Amino acid sequence: MWNKLPTWQVFLWWHHFFLLWSTIDGQTRYSIPEELKQGSVVGHLAKDLGLVVSELYRRKLRITSEAGKQYFSVDLGRGELVVTDRIDREELCAQRPSCLLPLELVIDNPLQLHRVEIEIQDTNDNSPSFLTKEKVVKIAELVNPGARFPLESAQDPDVGANSVRSYLISKNDHFKLTVKTHKDGRKIPELVLEKTLDREKLPVHNLILTAVDGGDPVRSGTSEITIIVLDNNDNAPQFERQVYEANVSEKATPGTEILQIRATDADEGQNGEIEYFFAEQTTDLILSLFDIKASTGAIVVKGTLDHETNALHRFDITAKDKGNPQMDGHCGVEIKVVDINDNIPEIIVTSLTTPIPEDSAIGTVIALISAKDPDSGNNGKVTLSVSTKSPFKLNPSVSNHYTLVTNGPLDREKNDRYIVRISATDSGKPPLSSEKVIFVELLDVNDNAPVFSQPTYVVYVKENNLPGKILCSVSANDPDTDNSAKISYSILDSKVEDVSVSSYVYINSDNGSIYSMHSFDYEKLKVFQIHVQAKDQGSPSLSGNATVHVFILDQNDNAPAVIYPSSAALGSFSQQRMPRSAKAAHLLTKVTAVDADSGHNAWISYRLAEATDASLFTVNLYTGEVRTKRAVSEQDDSSQRLLIEIKDDGEPVRSATVTVSVLLEDGLHEPILDLRQKSAEPSQKGGRVTLYLIVSLASVSVLSLLTFLILAVKCIRNSRSSGSCCMRRSDCDEYKNPNRNLQIQLNTDGPIKYVEVLGGDMLSQSQSFRSCLSPMSEYSDFTLIKPSSTTDFKEVISVLDASLPDSTWTFESQQVKRSPSAGADSIRWRKPGQIWSL
Ligand SMILES: *[C@@H]1O[C@H](CO)[C@@H](O)[C@H](O)[C@H]1NC(C)=O
Ligand SMILES: *[C@@H]1O[C@H](CO)[C@@H](O)[C@H](O)[C@H]1NC(C)=O
Ligand SMILES: *[C@@H]1O[C@H](CO)[C@@H](O)[C@H](O)[C@H]1NC(C)=O
Repeated sequence: MWNKLPTWQVFLWWHHFFLLWSTIDGQTRYSIPEELKQGSVVGHLAKDLGLVVSELYRRKLRITSEAGKQYFSVDLGRGELVVTDRIDREELCAQRPSCLLPLELVIDNPLQLHRVEIEIQDTNDNSPSFLTKEKVVKIAELVNPGARFPLESAQDPDVGANSVRSYLISKNDHFKLTVKTHKDGRKIPELVLEKTLDREKLPVHNLILTAVDGGDPVRSGTSEITIIVLDNNDNAPQFERQVYEANVSEKATPGTEILQIRATDADEGQNGEIEYFFAEQTTDLILSLFDIKASTGAIVVKGTLDHETNALHRFDITAKDKGNPQMDGHCGVEIKVVDINDNIPEIIVTSLTTPIPEDSAIGTVIALISAKDPDSGNNGKVTLSVSTKSPFKLNPSVSNHYTLVTNGPLDREKNDRYIVRISATDSGKPPLSSEKVIFVELLDVNDNAPVFSQPTYVVYVKENNLPGKILCSVSANDPDTDNSAKISYSILDSKVEDVSVSSYVYINSDNGSIYSMHSFDYEKLKVFQIHVQAKDQGSPSLSGNATVHVFILDQNDNAPAVIYPSSAALGSFSQQRMPRSAKAAHLLTKVTAVDADSGHNAWISYRLAEATDASLFTVNLYTGEVRTKRAVSEQDDSSQRLLIEIKDDGEPVRSATVTVSVLLEDGLHEPILDLRQKSAEPSQKGGRVTLYLIVSLASVSVLSLLTFLILAVKCIRNSRSSGSCCMRRSDCDEYKNPNRNLQIQLNTDGPIKYVEVLGGDMLSQSQSFRSCLSPMSEYSDFTLIKPSSTTDFKEVISVLDASLPDSTWTFESQQVKRSPSAGADSIRWRKPGQIWSL
């Protein structure tokens, strides 16, 4: 094969060819395009070589060159040169501009050598092509415009116009194509950067390079060019916002995430990897309170937040990428610390005035108080209050300031110290509160007069007491303090029986002990009053007073005195005469005695102590009537002697005796005992006494009647509701109600009976009431006398009622239904077993 011949053989062939040429005349050249079909006629060889066609066969025209044999043959019948095989110019001549195939033809008879040249003409049968169909070009994004990037040239085996003539690049914004022609004529396409690349906009550019030849028709070949834009750290991290805002509760614990900030970086790889940091100028406070997660941008609580110290935190955050050079972005963060009601309101007492006088007027300022709560809003809105029970109130003044003023009367004696509880509550949810206690002390003012333990004191003192003995002790109390409570006792001057009371008694000014300075005689003075005064030493001083009722108690210091039968001259002796004809129960005489004492001490009883004949006479125990027990007989002695003992009921018993000598006479008529005659008889003194008694009785009766009427009217009024009125003295419970009951006391002094009308209860001594009947009871003869020693009548009534021990006496007033027979109320006294009706 031609193309497989070694170079030296080709050279040999050429050498040989020229050798022959020198010997053989003439040369013929044909020109054919490549790639002719087989059998195509190249030229009329016989004619061109001057040969006769018919001779050809005989002369054996033949192609001798090996190469020529392969592609051509000679049609001996027609004398034409025809193509026998495909002729590829590119194969035969490669890129040589002309391609000649030499042929040697030999013809025998005569042997002649002919040389024929066949020029193979190029046809555009090859497209330009690239060795690499896909080319990758990496370009850094920051390369300046104008940079050139050589591309691969396309290959086209065709020559001349049919070979690569130009290059085209697909349409794009960034690149243009230039073709550089080398010295050797090679055309090398180059990409020229027209506009800066941005990886972030378009990281990969796909271009198509087309090589075009100049043939007709035009043929082309393409290559895909992939341009990868290499990243440059040309983008700073960008935050989504300029300023981030967040609220965080001041209660948030360390680790709580507050917010997430985010920055983005358009770069890739390390250039786009972002880390977050606090900006350089961040204060230590912020650094101690907050932390930022470098990788995620989460801002978390680190320290303890406090709305009250810092309600708002502002700081900057930097985001940095990891490129080289490093780029960073910034944003601001505002964190509001939301208030939590975590501060208890505080009560501040600015000034306090204590102690204050107890007579301070209402509205006196005691303290200036303010409230403080560092929380904000409602959490810091404080209201103060004070217990409504205390006599203080709070007056609000300027914001959160209050004055504590008195709101009511103060009394040190009730409360010498007030504990004022002030509570402060804020309006948070839930509200917090605190309490403060203020102690307000009160200063004493002498506003309390000394008060005696009792308004009246009652003292019983036996008569004949020893002077200098303590009668009683009074005491007064003053709730004030110090001098205002220092009490001195004194006796207010008054008269007792025209004598100053201070001559009777003396009081210890320090402790109120009252001493008697006198021995009292009941028969002269039964009762008297002492007005005592207690005075404190306050300024001005106050005083209180009380009355001491001194009752002198009767002692049995008087023996009964016989007043009838009169025997002043003979001592206790009297002579009586009696007829022998006297029957039984004949009244011989009536012994009458008086006792200056009162009560039991004056309760006189009579007893026949001795008699000549005890069977003949008897003495009435109560009346002193001496009567015969039986009829006098002839055998009885004419002279009888009776010793009558008169005893009182005191302790010790005192007694007197009277001796009555009786002369029994015959023929003596029974005397008509007329007591009125008898009483008138003894002396002039007796008549006067009787007159007194009558006057007394009359006045007493009128008084009693008046009192009864008043009582009756009262009772009727009262009983309108209750139906009956009973004033019953039960026990000691109604001691201090004078004038409650009307008391009537009947005293007996021998034959002299008198009535004491007293208010209140009966005297215990007034057992003498039993002898209220006349000694001559059968004749219903009353002799009444007003007691001589009774001083102030009304006063005694009231005092006795209030003071005297209980008695068995009751006074009843019963309203009886009106009937024809009983037309009036009946009033009666009742003592067990005995009833007097009026
Ligand atoms: C923070 O709270 C306030 C009201 O207290 C509100 O107006 C604001 O929108 C809140 N901000 C955020 C970021 O939640
Ligand atoms: C009052 O003082 C006197 C003398 O010091 C004394 O004898 C008396 O017992 C005192 N009285 C009272 C009630 O203490
Ligand atoms: C004390 O006595 C005075 C005058 O004697 C009198 O005016 C006053 O009412 C009395 N006070 C008392 C509490 O009894």
